[in-house]
Amino acid sequence: MSKNIDWGKLGFGYMKTDLRYVSRWKDGKWDEGQLVEDNNITLSESSTALHYGQQCFEGLKAYRTKDGKIQLFRPDENAKRMNASCRRIMMPEMPIEKFIDACIQVVKANEDYVPPYGTGATLYLRPFVIGVGDNLGVKPAPEYLFCVFCVPVGPYFKGGMNPVNFTISEYDRAAPYGTGAAKVGGNYAGSLYPHKLAVEKGYADCIYLDPMTHTRIEEVGAANFFGITKDDKFITPVSPSILPSITKYSLMYLAKEYLGMEVEERDVLVNNLDEFKEAGACGTAAVITPIGGIEYKGNLHVFHSEKEVGPVTKKLYDTLCGIQFGDVESPEGWIV
Ligand code: COI
Repeated sequence: MSKNIDWGKLGFGYMKTDLRYVSRWKDGKWDEGQLVEDNNITLSESSTALHYGQQCFEGLKAYRTKDGKIQLFRPDENAKRMNASCRRIMMPEMPIEKFIDACIQVVKANEDYVPPYGTGATLYLRPFVIGVGDNLGVKPAPEYLFCVFCVPVGPYFKGGMNPVNFTISEYDRAAPYGTGAAKVGGNYAGSLYPHKLAVEKGYADCIYLDPMTHTRIEEVGAANFFGITKDDKFITPVSPSILPSITKYSLMYLAKEYLGMEVEERDVLVNNLDEFKEAGACGTAAVITPIGGIEYKGNLHVFHSEKEVGPVTKKLYDTLCGIQFGDVESPEGWIV
């Protein structure tokens, strides 16, 4: 391994790697695409990505296995979700094969940045689409860029697999029938201020409730929520404005098929947290982050423990990471 990186100390931060992929959409089609060294993008000052938030992104990871191979986890699902985001904000879709090929090219070109097996670190891929070209009115851009860059990363939340506490936000993340289910930058811009308030109060991040009634849990910062009931059911909230986490849907499958648990997508009431013995946040970046406690209206509701990971959360984590790092047999088609 030629890169001088302390893999075990990595957090979730940017680092310039060697090559990234860029493809341009013009006159109704995507070009061939190429790997480039420059990590800066030149674009028109009037680009819709800059003014009207016409952009979306994805997140997926490459994992080093015990025998030194490198694998991607369900990249086709990221391609499908990116295309759903593109449709929502009128950007051109990317053929699934081209999306996966771009990811593979980027991983191969930056192979030395894929952290060694056993460090827990991974190579995070960030595909994105932005509206570019000259434009002034509020309308779809005349041209688009699809890019993929990669960065070696460690845990998203400082605690990693240790529980952290969250607080309930007074701010909303997304409106019903808005863009909450699309992975568009505006959803994340709107979360910066509530996140800052949560951190100032001493929490890892905030949890968003449904905007209509402020009674149901929707998302945990930039991750999805799950809870384990006292009778071992895997529960995760349902709402049209939740970002459909690929990790969450993978966990639902693994909970049912690998761990024999009952799985349910349904309302999770902030006034009824007592129904859960364990809870967690899940996503590509967060993987599984155990939720120690949730602060709501001045009271901290503690689940399993503020210090220790619950046994079911641990089993889910081991199964998911076992598949991602190649130690546990994967469901068909999940690994590329
Ligand atoms: C991810 O889990 O990939 C995310 O999108 C979360 C965040 C880093 C934006």
